[in-house]
Amino acid sequence: MEFTVKLTDAQSRVIIEKGCHTHLADYMEFNGRVMVVTDDNIPDSLKESVLCQFEDAILAEVPQGEKAKSFEIYTDLLATLLENGFSRKDFVIALGGGVVGDLAGFVASTYKRGCRFVQIPTTTLAQIDSSIGGKVAVNMNGIKNCVGSFYHPETVFVDTDTLATLEKRHFYNGLVEAVKAGCIGDAQLFDIFKNHAHELDAHSPYLEEIITRSLLFKRSVVQQDEKEQNLRKILNFGHTIGHALESLYNLEEYYHGECVANGMLMITEDMQIKQDLTGIFEKMNIPFVKAPDADKCIEFIKNDKKASGSTVDIVKVDRIGEAYIEKIHIEDMKKYFGR
Ligand SMILES: NC(=O)c1ccc[n+]([C@@H]2O[C@H](COP(=O)([O-])OP(=O)(O)OC[C@H]3O[C@@H](n4cnc5c(N)ncnc54)[C@H](O)[C@@H]3O)[C@@H](O)[C@H]2O)c1
Ligand SMILES: [Zn+2]
Repeated sequence: MEFTVKLTDAQSRVIIEKGCHTHLADYMEFNGRVMVVTDDNIPDSLKESVLCQFEDAILAEVPQGEKAKSFEIYTDLLATLLENGFSRKDFVIALGGGVVGDLAGFVASTYKRGCRFVQIPTTTLAQIDSSIGGKVAVNMNGIKNCVGSFYHPETVFVDTDTLATLEKRHFYNGLVEAVKAGCIGDAQLFDIFKNHAHELDAHSPYLEEIITRSLLFKRSVVQQDEKEQNLRKILNFGHTIGHALESLYNLEEYYHGECVANGMLMITEDMQIKQDLTGIFEKMNIPFVKAPDADKCIEFIKNDKKASGSTVDIVKVDRIGEAYIEKIHIEDMKKYFGR
C-alpha cells in the first residue's frame, strides 16, 4: 500500500509494506551520500539491515530518549554532515522513533537550507503519527519542541516488521494516537479498538489497518491545514491536558501517549464514549493518572504555546468520528480535573 501527502511546496510518499526497510532502493533512488540517524537502544539487527544497503553510509547514534532532542546533539549532527562533505543533495535517514525523527528532520531541514530527508519509523508512535505532518524540532531550556520547523520527509517507509522488538509499553503508548484518530475522524478505526484492543501486538492482522487509517486521516487534515492555522488543531484532542500531565511528571513518569490517553478521558463528557475509552485503555495497559494537581496543571496550560491570553482552544468529541474546537477560559479547565 502506498499514498502521497501533497503539500504546498513538498510531498511525502508513504510506503506501508512489511519488509520494505530491507530493500529501500526498490522504491527510490539513493543517488548521494547517506547519514543514518538512530539511537543507541534500537536493535543492532535493524541498523545493520539498513546500513548494509549502502556502500559508505555514516551511522550517527544518539542516546535514546527525549534528551537527544537537544541543541548540542543537533549541532553535533550538523558538524558530522559538514566534516564528511555532505551537500544538500545527500540524504539524512531517520531510523527510530519520534525522537530520532524530530531530531534528524530538524537537522535535515536546516543543513545547507535543507537536504534530502527519509524516515524509517520504528515505533508505533512514529509509524502512526510523527513521521508525517512535517513537524520537526528540538527542545530547549526544558521546553519541548520550542526550536523547530516544518519539513516533510520525501519518503516514509512504514514496516511493521520493525515493531517486533519494541517494548510492550512503547507499543501501546503509540497506539493511543490511533485511538485519538478514531475518536476525532474515523469511527471504524475506533471500532477496531473496541473489538480488538485486547489482542493487539506487532503481529496482529489489524495493525497495518490501524496504522494506514490513522495516517490517511492525518493526511486529510494536514493537507487542508499544513501549518496548523485551524483544522489541524483537532489533532490535539487530549493533548492540552496531556501536555500538562507530561510537564507535571517532568516528562519522565509517563510517556506522551499515556498522558494523551488520560487527557482524552478527562476532557470527554459523553458517558458512553468515556466508558468505551476506559475499556480500550485498560486493555492496552495504559496507566491511569490519579487525581493530578489541577492548579499546577492549569499553570502548565497557561504556559503552553497553544494558549493565548486567558483562553485556550480545546478539542471536544461528543460523537465518535467527529471533533470540534471550543475556546474556553483556562481557569474553567479546572472542571475537567478529578473527573
Ligand atoms: N513530529 C510530530 O508530529 C510528533 C508527534 C508526536 C510525537 N512526537 C515526538 O515523538 C517523540 C516520542 O516518540 P517515541 O514514542 O517514538 O519515542 P522514542 O523515539 O524515544 O522511542 C521510544 C523507545 O523505543 C526504542 N525503540 C525504537 N524503535 C525500536 C524498535 N524497533 N525496537 C526496540 N526498541 C525501539 C527507542 O530506543 C526508545 O528507547 C517525542 O519527542 C515527541 O515530541 C512528534
Ligand atoms: Zn501526540
